[in-house]
Amino acid sequence: MNLKQMVGIEAAKYVKDGMIVGLGTGSTAYYLVEEIGRRIKEEGLNITGVTTSKATEQQALNLGIPLKSIDEVSHVDLTIDGADEISSDFQGIKGGGAALLFEKIVASYSDKNIWIVDESKMVDDLGKFPLPVEVIPYGSQQLLKLFKEKNLSPILRLNKENEILKTDSGNYIIDLHLKKIDKEQTHDLATWLNSLAGVVEHGLFLNIVNLVIVGKGTEPETLE
Ligand code: 5RP
Repeated sequence: MNLKQMVGIEAAKYVKDGMIVGLGTGSTAYYLVEEIGRRIKEEGLNITGVTTSKATEQQALNLGIPLKSIDEVSHVDLTIDGADEISSDFQGIKGGGAALLFEKIVASYSDKNIWIVDESKMVDDLGKFPLPVEVIPYGSQQLLKLFKEKNLSPILRLNKENEILKTDSGNYIIDLHLKKIDKEQTHDLATWLNSLAGVVEHGLFLNIVNLVIVGKGTEPETLE
């Protein structure tokens, strides 16, 4: 079993009958969704899923997981998702899979958030992983220019066909290659990005996670 599968299966143990569960996106969340599908089929687990991307929605539908949209539920009990980096003070960068907007919306309305990662994602400081910023296409060249002027090393994300990548909402992603984000500056950076016209969301997930399950060696480690 690989580390991503290990943490996906471990996290699924936190899912209980009757829960409304936010289902994350990415290659780690994939295993979580598979395990929830298995439990529904084999154990009669009864849950409602709220997906964070079209990819996860398709996977969940294929597995027969009952789904509702975020606007159809009164609350979300628990969301389980992957992450690209988690710092020593439990802040995160997400959006490597371009699903940060829905992921942040679902996480924000969740009573509890669990992140599942392999040990390579645990870092002292955020920033080695490029920080994704989701922007609407209109005005995106101006934002690229602004980020360049501020020495934030922006790169407009392309898809495998070398075309501009479009998110599930039809937006673009600008990745900021920052190398390192000082802990003292993380919140100011998030506030500044939120203040820019045309920025829809960014990949700094601050003060959101309650529990992290890390895959290393033969056993998952749970950090609170
Ligand atoms: C998608 C995300 C993912 O959770 C993040 O990129 C981690 O993905 P993976 O588990 O494939 O490494 O934020 O937008």
